[in-house]
Amino acid sequence: MIGTGYVGLVTGACLADFGHVVTCVDKDPAKIEALLAGQMPIYEPGLEDLVNRNARERRLSFTTELAPAVREADVVFLAVGTPSRRGDGHADLSYVYGAAREIAAAAEGFTVIVTKSTVPVGTGDEVERIIREASPHADIAVASNPEFLREGAAIEDFKRPDRIVIGTEDPRAKAVMTEVYRPLYLNQGPLMFTARRTSELIKYAANAFLATKITFINEIADLCEKAGANVQEVARGIGLDKRIGSKFLHAGPGYGGSCFPKDTLALMRTGQDYGVPLRVVEAVVGVNDARKSAMARKVIAALDGNVYGKTVALLGLTFKPNTDDMRESPSIPLVYSLLDKGAKIRAYDPEGMTEAKKVLGDIEYRASAYDCLDGADVGVIVTEWDEFRALDLDRVKAALTRPVIVDLRNIYRPEDMAERGFRYESIGRSGVPEAGA
Ligand SMILES: NC(=O)c1ccc[n+]([C@@H]2O[C@H](COP(=O)([O-])OP(=O)(O)OC[C@H]3O[C@@H](n4cnc5c(N)ncnc54)[C@H](O)[C@@H]3O)[C@@H](O)[C@H]2O)c1
Repeated sequence: MIGTGYVGLVTGACLADFGHVVTCVDKDPAKIEALLAGQMPIYEPGLEDLVNRNARERRLSFTTELAPAVREADVVFLAVGTPSRRGDGHADLSYVYGAAREIAAAAEGFTVIVTKSTVPVGTGDEVERIIREASPHADIAVASNPEFLREGAAIEDFKRPDRIVIGTEDPRAKAVMTEVYRPLYLNQGPLMFTARRTSELIKYAANAFLATKITFINEIADLCEKAGANVQEVARGIGLDKRIGSKFLHAGPGYGGSCFPKDTLALMRTGQDYGVPLRVVEAVVGVNDARKSAMARKVIAALDGNVYGKTVALLGLTFKPNTDDMRESPSIPLVYSLLDKGAKIRAYDPEGMTEAKKVLGDIEYRASAYDCLDGADVGVIVTEWDEFRALDLDRVKAALTRPVIVDLRNIYRPEDMAERGFRYESIGRSGVPEAGA
């Protein structure tokens, strides 16, 4: 497993748990040292137990040395990062190609090289070209096997996938990949073989579609606010239709995370490169960016238009619960916009504060939700961690200097909050129709 980040570590640990012998390789010595000491470099529920158990049972090991691990391997997974390239939004493939060159020099015997990283259509062709050029006699097949796991539920998703997509037309590679996934296959996890380019595109199309669903309901939420309707009920009303489905219809502050923002952008660029502009995806990218920046306005409005010198308490910073991942989190533009307007920001996140400190400016961190709210002018629910779902509202009210809550995740009921004397602003549920339309 080349790259021991979220995907590489989870995949490596799960494959080891199936009984395979897995070596996780990473360039980052700190990550490998931590793992060798039994410490997880990321927060993911259930991961520590799974990793340490498989390491103890000698199916899972960690190293910074790529060559010896690749030499012994029948299958080499590429799970390195593919971030947005600065400037143009294309996927930055330098880590993928760099690893391919290293693999070319080390592979021995028939080796299947599997791209698990999310890569634009055609990348497998280039990986294969790089390896064949560097090592003309290497006996290799290059396959695509995109990953669909969600952070926060990664192990469950890996072990009980809706489908496993494998892009290869090489019969030997198909046989090896069938063997790798046999335990899931026996559990009825549908294995789908396609051509490599199709497989690469499936991943982007899936992410773009999910991002579209979120963005769609977010725009409907804005309309609900103006038209006096309730977006949660609209979402339920459409989601019960099986053709639509109820998932990914929760209105909120806009999607973030390590995947959707960069993958929608990369797909948009790919469409433009092929002369097939993907207008829907382009709109989704634009609408979502604007939405994230607009969230600060909601907070400012809840404080009657002025946050200068006011203390804003943020509950949650990560892009979603059950992860410490801060990449592209909606909290980032929110914090910066509020700081620009002169607010004082303090925050509490159950798992994300170490990561948050690396990306956010000069803000104060508190040790608990109540501590964070204590003496603040407004409380803002940014991430729907379970511990924010059942706050003692009397205590919250007593802690705040004024009872104002802005809930960007709709985890409380407006009627309950009103009854308890809060000024409560949420997403798409204002219920007061604007005149004139
Ligand atoms: N995070 C997710 O939820 C998720 C889900 C599905 C797909 N993906 C895709 O999987 C890929 C990896 O994502 P991630 O979130 O795990 O990234 P990550 O940044 O957490 O991890 C990537 C790791 O690769 C290492 N690396 C880079 N080049 C290397 C090399 N030559 N040799 C050894 N190690 C090297 C880095 O040090 C880093 O630890 C991306 O393409 C991403 O789009 C991510």
